[in-house]
Parts: sequence; C-alpha cells; structure tokens
Amino acid sequence: MKAMIGHGSDENVHGFGKCYSRVHWAPHNAPVEETNDRHVSSRRAFLAALAGLGGAVALPGGASATSAWRAGTPALIPAAAPDLIRAPTFPEGIMAGVPRMDGAMLWTRAPRGVFEGDGSLALLVSRHDDLSSPEIATTVTAAKQADGCVHFPAAGLRPGEEYYYQFRGRDTASPIGRFRTLRPADSAEPVRIGFFTCQGYTEGYYAAHRHLAAEDLDLVIGLGDYVYEATAPGPRGIDFNIYPQIMPAMRAKYTFYRQDADLRAMHAKHAFLPLWDDHEFRNNYTKNKWSFPEPFFQSKKSAAWATWFERMPVPRSAAELTRTYRSLRLGRTVELFALDTRQYRDDQPCGDGGGKACPDADNPARTMLGTAQKSWLFGGLRDSGADWKLLANPNMMMGMVSGANGERAYLDTWDGYGAERTELLSLAADRVENLLVVTGDDHDTFAAELWNTGFGPGSAPANPPGTRRAGVEFVVPSVTSTNTGDSKGAAGARTEEQNRLSHNSHLKLVDMVQHGYGVLDVDGDGARFSYREVDKLSASAGVRTSYEFTVPGGNATLERH
Ligand SMILES: [Fe+2]
Repeated sequence: MKAMIGHGSDENVHGFGKCYSRVHWAPHNAPVEETNDRHVSSRRAFLAALAGLGGAVALPGGASATSAWRAGTPALIPAAAPDLIRAPTFPEGIMAGVPRMDGAMLWTRAPRGVFEGDGSLALLVSRHDDLSSPEIATTVTAAKQADGCVHFPAAGLRPGEEYYYQFRGRDTASPIGRFRTLRPADSAEPVRIGFFTCQGYTEGYYAAHRHLAAEDLDLVIGLGDYVYEATAPGPRGIDFNIYPQIMPAMRAKYTFYRQDADLRAMHAKHAFLPLWDDHEFRNNYTKNKWSFPEPFFQSKKSAAWATWFERMPVPRSAAELTRTYRSLRLGRTVELFALDTRQYRDDQPCGDGGGKACPDADNPARTMLGTAQKSWLFGGLRDSGADWKLLANPNMMMGMVSGANGERAYLDTWDGYGAERTELLSLAADRVENLLVVTGDDHDTFAAELWNTGFGPGSAPANPPGTRRAGVEFVVPSVTSTNTGDSKGAAGARTEEQNRLSHNSHLKLVDMVQHGYGVLDVDGDGARFSYREVDKLSASAGVRTSYEFTVPGGNATLERH
C-alpha cells in the first residue's frame, strides 16, 4: 500500500526467465531436499580439474586449499582454467537465501552481455572466512537467459554454523559472503532475526542496511516492497521509475536498487528471506485486479514474478510457480511462518481506501490467505511444538480505527478481511501459545496486543471487541518509503498518532515519524523486540534503539522499556 504516483505505458511482455545452476538446479524445481553427495563429487572433480590445470589444490579429506585460494586477491584461479568467465563483475553483490539447517540458496549475478551466451563461475563454501578447506567447491552457470543470475542450492552443511562463500571467475571474484545455517532442531539457543520493509530507492538512503549488517543475527527477513514500481523523487536527487512491467524494465529495477553498497553489505552478512507484497508488482493489487487499466494484468504479473524469482535467492517450485509462503524451524525456540497476503486475496472491500464505513470488510466469504495457504497455516500453527510461533506478515493484522464512528484506516490490510482474521486469531487465542506477528507495509511504526478479533476490548462502534488474547504484533517502519511524517509533517503525524491511540485500546505504540528496522530476540522464556531508528535523509546516519518491548512467555502482553 501507499506511495502511488503517475502512470506508465503498456508494452510487450517477455516470457519467464530462468535462473539456475547448470549442474545442480533444474529450472522451476525446488532443490531443498538435495543432499551433499553431488557437491562432494563435483568438488572432487572440480579440484582435480584445477590440479590438472596446474593449480596445486589438495583433494578433500584433510583437504586444504592453496595459498592462491586463500589469498582473496584477484589472482584466484589458475590462468589455464578454460571455463570460467573472464573478469566477471558482480554488480548486485551476493546473497544466501532461505536458510535451512543444512544449507541455503546462494545467489549472484555476473552480467554476460547480450550475445555472449552462458558462462561458468567457481563457487567455494567454507567454514573459514579465508575460504580454506572448502565444504563445497564447484562450478555454477551464469546463464544468458537468466540475465547472468546464478542460483546454487548449497546443501550438506552443518546446522547452526557460520559459513563463508565466494563466486570466482578468471581474474576477479565476488566479495566473500557469510550466512548461518538454521540451528539444530533440539537447540534451545536464543534466536535473533532482523526485519526491514519498504525501501523505495529514490526516497532516502540505506544507512539502515549498514546498521542491519552490523547486527548479530540468524537471518534477515524482508517483509515486502523490496522494490517499487513507482516512487516519488527524494533526497538522492534522482527519479528512477520504470513503470512498464516487462522483464527488461523489472530487471533494471533490481539492478538499480542494488547499486547501493549498504544494501549489498547487508546481504553479504546475513541469510535473507524475502516476502512478496504489492509493490514488487503494483500497488494494492489482488488476485483479480490492479490499480491500472486491465490489459496485460496477467502477463505483466508473470513478468514481475519471473524477475523476483530470478533476482531473489529463493527456490522455485515446479508444482507451484509463484508460491512463497513457507515455514522454517529455528531450533526448539521458533517456528517461523512466512506469509503471502497478496497474491491469493480477494479484492479489497468497498472499493479499497479507508476511513469509511464498510460492512463488507467482515464478510466471511472473503479471504486474504486463499484456501491452500490458510489450511497450511492453521495446521502448522496447531501442530507446532516450537516455544514461539512467529508470523512474518506483509500487511497489518491489528485492527486500526481512525475515526469516532469506527471507520477503519485501511481496507488493504487484514482490516479488509476481518472474518478470516477472527478465525486466525481465535485459533491462536484458543490453541497457540506465544504468537508473535511481525509486519511490514505500513511505513509507520506500531506495536499492539492482538485480541481474537483484532480489536481490543471497548473498541469503537462497528468493530467487534476482542474477548481473548491471541498474541502480539510489531509493525516495522519503512527503511525509506514515505510515512505519515514525510507526507504530513511531524506535527501532523503526532496529531494522528494521538488519534489512533484514542480509538484503539490494543495499540501500545504508534510512531509515524521514524524510519529504520527491527530486531527480534527470543528464547524459551521471553521475546524482546527492538525498534532501531535510522535517519533516511543521510547516507552516514547513525542508529539508536528508539523503542523496546518484551513479551513474557505464555502471556501475550507487551511490556515497554
Ligand atoms: Fe511499502
């Protein structure tokens, strides 16, 4: 939601791109069950090939790399190695996505030029930051049809360990990346997760990502709106909005965002789990429509999806080409449910918008999750044995009344899908202990105690008051995208904050001025959520913890510190 300007023109739509490793990745097949056997054999073959070419590289089994491998200098690969791309560049950096106990999806892009065809890179994965004694050493393909993108499903690694990785061509190499595999299933160790959302490139600087990179985290979750189809010109002094959503334009969008060194640094430091929301395609779109004349809706949506899977470090299921909802288990402490609240949803009620009476908002026939995701989520929540159940949730779940007659502020959030929200939160109230919801999209900052209807006791007319506690919700501020303070000024934002507090008894924090990100720190006894404020107007901005809440285990209440 939010941030819509201008209109562009419709143009031809290109087909699906593919982004995969020649050796280990079948296009559109989910690789998550792959074992390390193939890595071992390919590593042996690869190292042996290098040895045959004059590179003095020992084989695995007490294997150690040569000084050339350790050096981290441009002279990394024996000059005689014939297969690797000569002097590749890595303009979009490197990423490790969707971490598992035994690996992650490793990603980079080495642009080949339009007519150069496919090329190969070497990839090393090691427990050591000098990449010595690699666990994986193989070649991967930067395919022309994938615009030079590489996806490699690293597997066979140990749980709860730090790993380092690097892509190498002839003469040049990528930065060295790091990620942590998910903790063992029986681990009771604390879990720390970073969250960011809504980073319209033209609307500010990414100092928040530099500070996020410096946090000690298990992974970072992007809650949606990683790119925007359209944003307002801002403090960077540029206006870059490619509106025609065809593959070349969408690809250029991601390349443009990733020219930012702070964003690339964050990706290089932490494993990444991205969620899909509307601006990856078009503001407030639904399964049926978008805020634009109808022609080309389906074909442009396909192009947006294809680009997202090409540019993000995520597997793609052949059976469900656009599925992004998934669960991850982080030891005994957390089960994470990453939601898609965009692509399966019915249209917003009452013509979208907000601030108006809308009886249809609670129509039980309408869905946000869609049938399959709803069944998956409800079953997963019922069955989870984790201490804490964490929903990574693109759109605000709490009710948000903005007027004395009970008008809801937005109808694009769960407030437009009230009956399904009550089903979900009633299940949580009755059957799910320790529910945490962390949310993106709004651009402003909120924290609330969730009741079974989404509204606290004594809520305004036309909104069903809750009777049972269900969990807590933290809405993360935008990195840069326009918030209420940006659009109304700080004084106007502070007035609106008081208005929201007066109409929503469940609301414990609202800040419509700050930008930044959030950090969740959770163990078996309790959870702590910290809001980090970072000025978007300065590339060199510092960071401070602006608000901090704890949630005692078994209590579904917020304590502010
Ligand atoms: Fe946004």
